[in-house]
Amino acid sequence: MLTVAWMSAAWIYLASRQIITHQYVPDVRNLASVTDPDLLEEGERLAQVYGCYGGCHGDRMQGAVIQEHPLNGRLVAPNLTQSMQRLSLPELEAIVRQGIRADGTSVFGMPSASFAAMTDRELSAILSFIRRYPLQSENYGQSDHGLLTRWRMVSGALPAEAEIRYHQPWRETFRGNENRLGEYLAVVACAQCHGQDLEGSETTGAPSLDRVHDYDRFEFRALMEEGVAPGAREVGGKRRLASARYSRLTDDEIDALMVFLKTRP
Ligand code: HEC
Repeated sequence: MLTVAWMSAAWIYLASRQIITHQYVPDVRNLASVTDPDLLEEGERLAQVYGCYGGCHGDRMQGAVIQEHPLNGRLVAPNLTQSMQRLSLPELEAIVRQGIRADGTSVFGMPSASFAAMTDRELSAILSFIRRYPLQSENYGQSDHGLLTRWRMVSGALPAEAEIRYHQPWRETFRGNENRLGEYLAVVACAQCHGQDLEGSETTGAPSLDRVHDYDRFEFRALMEEGVAPGAREVGGKRRLASARYSRLTDDEIDALMVFLKTRP
């Protein structure tokens, strides 16, 4: 019995190692470095909305241990202020939008498949803002995937982000079109937990965004800005998401997001 368990574990380790070490070749996409103060301010706001600043990577982008568990292993969101010093802009672009690290392997747990849609202009503004942020000294080390996480990779439940990315960033003009803006924000800001098709995700426990059909405009604003659902209902984690991230959305963005979520097929 013990031998069978040991052999299964060994097989999962070997099979997952192939997935973890698989090499990808990113498209080389050069981004402009931004110096315009208005655009840098926009970079700060978007870094909050999308969860780089004040989200998974910590409130000073100093990094964080997202999970530490005997079976799942250790998932680290690295210190972004240090990554900015070590990596070139094309290398950073490849990680964020293509899910491919500088060593050619895929990221896991970082929502690159959603960020793949991000426009050049927004990503340039965000990266330029983070580059100017004061260097933080924390170092939480590397992720170390445990047996259960590796099993999820092997069984297909946890795909390599580099496999599921869109192949092209969104066009800048979509932001000027109300319906496309809503779709854009849903993909870049919500799909990371609610699933690429917005139909919910077992991994995060987030439901289908069809729920928004039952919301009116004021209720949806309250959920985004304060994290409270209709009837003063507390929804897990939403208060923190609202204060750290979605309260930085503009009213127009929140309305566009709602219109898209209510009318999508
Ligand atoms: C970090 C993960 C995460 C992100 C990002 C996220 N959500 Fe959620 N969301 C959740 C989880 C988890 C739940 C379910 C919580 C519960 O039921 O306790 C949820 C629930 C909801 C609900 C249902 C609320 C209800 O009435 O029960 C709506 C609507 C919603 N989210 C909208 C959004 C929108 C719009 C975005 C993007 C702007 C978004 N969420 C981004 C994790 C997330």
